[in-house]
Amino acid sequence: MLVLGIESTCDETAASVVKDGKQILSNIIFSQVKLHEKFGGVFPEVASRSHAEKILPVIDEALSKANITSEDIDLIAVAYGPGLIGSLLVGSNTAKTLSLAWNKPFIGINHIEAHLYAAMMGEDAVQFPALGVVLSGGHTQILRIKNIGDYQVLGTTIDDAIGESFDKVASMLGLPYPGGPQVEKLAKIGDSNKFLFKAGKVKDSPFDFSFSGLKTKVLYTVKGQKSHKSSPLIISEEEKAHVAASFQKVAFSDVIEKTFLATKKYKTKAIYFGGGVCNNQKLRSMFDAENNGYKLFWPSFGLSLDNAAMIAGLGYHKFFERKHSDPLHLECKTRIRLA
Ligand code: KG4
Ligand code: ZN
Repeated sequence: MLVLGIESTCDETAASVVKDGKQILSNIIFSQVKLHEKFGGVFPEVASRSHAEKILPVIDEALSKANITSEDIDLIAVAYGPGLIGSLLVGSNTAKTLSLAWNKPFIGINHIEAHLYAAMMGEDAVQFPALGVVLSGGHTQILRIKNIGDYQVLGTTIDDAIGESFDKVASMLGLPYPGGPQVEKLAKIGDSNKFLFKAGKVKDSPFDFSFSGLKTKVLYTVKGQKSHKSSPLIISEEEKAHVAASFQKVAFSDVIEKTFLATKKYKTKAIYFGGGVCNNQKLRSMFDAENNGYKLFWPSFGLSLDNAAMIAGLGYHKFFERKHSDPLHLECKTRIRLA
């Protein structure tokens, strides 16, 4: 079965053709990073305009790279949330229109659930019950996965998402957007023990996250007390690398500690990871070093960041294996809780 996946939740316009939920025939991604760089973050109006411009060429390219035509498609799957509403509407309206025009079934896919599915795509044996760890620009979550489609959110962030914190710390250090990869690069030449930062604990919620205090501590360290975002740096180039390394280590140690705390409470056969921050090699090596005997499933590097292969893959699973489809009036949602 061939599924066309479409992704436009944030700042990537993507389309992909996936066979039987796992075999990726094409995976086309147009990244808008260059358009948003000068704003230091995603500018929603610019994002939706760019999606509107690129979505049809990206879909065309996905079909031609897969060496198929619209007639060969068995299902159209689109990410219907969470994300920016203007961006979501472009992907969703395109998917619905093509579904009507080509007379193909349609399904809406939760972007966050698809991030976790990305870690399941390369493996024949999915193992449940499991834990899911979503680390992206907009989300930080630990979930129980009883089965695909059956989740319980154990913890989430009460303020900034982890990827967002990386982007903000990068911006404080004068690094370009998106900041995660820049912080990772700079951290490689820094000493992670030079600065004593701390991630937040949330009272009575052992699996929740809070990164805003950590971010403020970094701000005061690099720009001084009573400073604000646009104040000049008061640290040397060398110290910048130590800040990046120390921040990164603390943020990741917090995620690792809370994840393994969850494995103590809930029966866990495996841990699945998803989201752009999972591209970080240091995160993977820190987790791998402390795996406590659990099997850790990471998405392939090409599937960590936003992509449509994960949307098509999960679409296959829901439609052909779970017999679920959606009506064409399915509404896009800026927020959806996985449950
Ligand atoms: O999953 P994603 O592409 O988009 C969302 O669904 O949010 O994640 C993007 C986020 C950005 O905040 C980016 O800075 C972060 O992932 N990111 C990283 C790395 N690569 C991307 N954070 C840390 N280290 C990286 N290597
Ligand atoms: Zn994402």
